[in-house]
Amino acid sequence: MQLRDSTVLLTGATGGLGAAMARALRAKGANLVLTGRNRALLDPLAEELGAVAAPCDLTDRVALNALLEEYRGVDALIANAAVPATGLLDSFTEEELDRIVAANLTAPIQMARALVPAMVERGRGHVVVVSSLSGKVASPASSMYSATKFGVRGFAFGLRQDLEGTGVGVSVVSPGFIRDAGMFAKTLANAGGDDVLPPGVGTCTPEQVANATVDAILRDRFEVTVAPLPMRVGATFGLAFPRVAAKTQKLSGAKEISEKVANAQAGWRS
Ligand SMILES: NC(=O)c1ccc[n+]([C@@H]2O[C@H](COP(=O)([O-])OP(=O)(O)OC[C@H]3O[C@@H](n4cnc5c(N)ncnc54)[C@H](OP(=O)(O)O)[C@@H]3O)[C@@H](O)[C@H]2O)c1
Repeated sequence: MQLRDSTVLLTGATGGLGAAMARALRAKGANLVLTGRNRALLDPLAEELGAVAAPCDLTDRVALNALLEEYRGVDALIANAAVPATGLLDSFTEEELDRIVAANLTAPIQMARALVPAMVERGRGHVVVVSSLSGKVASPASSMYSATKFGVRGFAFGLRQDLEGTGVGVSVVSPGFIRDAGMFAKTLANAGGDDVLPPGVGTCTPEQVANATVDAILRDRFEVTVAPLPMRVGATFGLAFPRVAAKTQKLSGAKEISEKVANAQAGWRS
């Protein structure tokens, strides 16, 4: 789908990857409706890009429905917002679990359900869901994050098949570790100078994720994985052989790494 003069609804615009996506989409001529909860970040970004700021807590169904009612006519949806939700399962309250699923999984599904019919009617549109390498391979202390990231990925692949021939495309963008901005960069900052990744695990930039998202829409890509080659190969292997992937992670100290990440993300669950 062409982006010039198309209207794109982007969630998580106040985050590190969302802001980069907003700028890349605008550079391609898209008109933007930007959402997030943090108005101190949302309003200046919207002003910079001549976009509409539509603040919304995606876990609040009334607010979400009002947003969807108002912007039912958009040409594309990018479901990018999420919370990292690391930690052992018994460390979450019932309410935290519900909110994590609502933000990371239910909201993208409800948004697609509300917005796709008008796209199909026009014979033109696109839905991007942002998953993660954690949507392909699970790690210690990340069961909730992976539950939602495997979930959105599976949802998008199924929806893509259902929409074949309608003119509406569906793509998955799956980033690895992203430096400079976003939830992993904030995790590093919280880790107090500790590099939580073992040597040799590469990172990418928010701009690479943003360009991949633009490309996914322009070329109707099935899935774009934004990570250095060894990580992409490892994820493909881990997807095919989850038991071997779990053993390999155990041998390479994934539990200790995940604990460091979970500590650096302590309380970051909504
Ligand atoms: N950064 C990475 O290394 C990395 C790697 C793999 C995948 N990803 C995925 O990339 C996407 C973007 O992540 P990021 O790195 O940009 O994270 P981020 O900087 O933490 O941004 C998260 C965004 O989600 C929004 N959000 C969270 N909960 C929300 C809620 N209840 N209602 C509305 N908005 C909500 C936040 O908005 P407010 O703060 O304004 O509420 C913020 O805009 C996510 O899906 C993430 O899982 C990131």
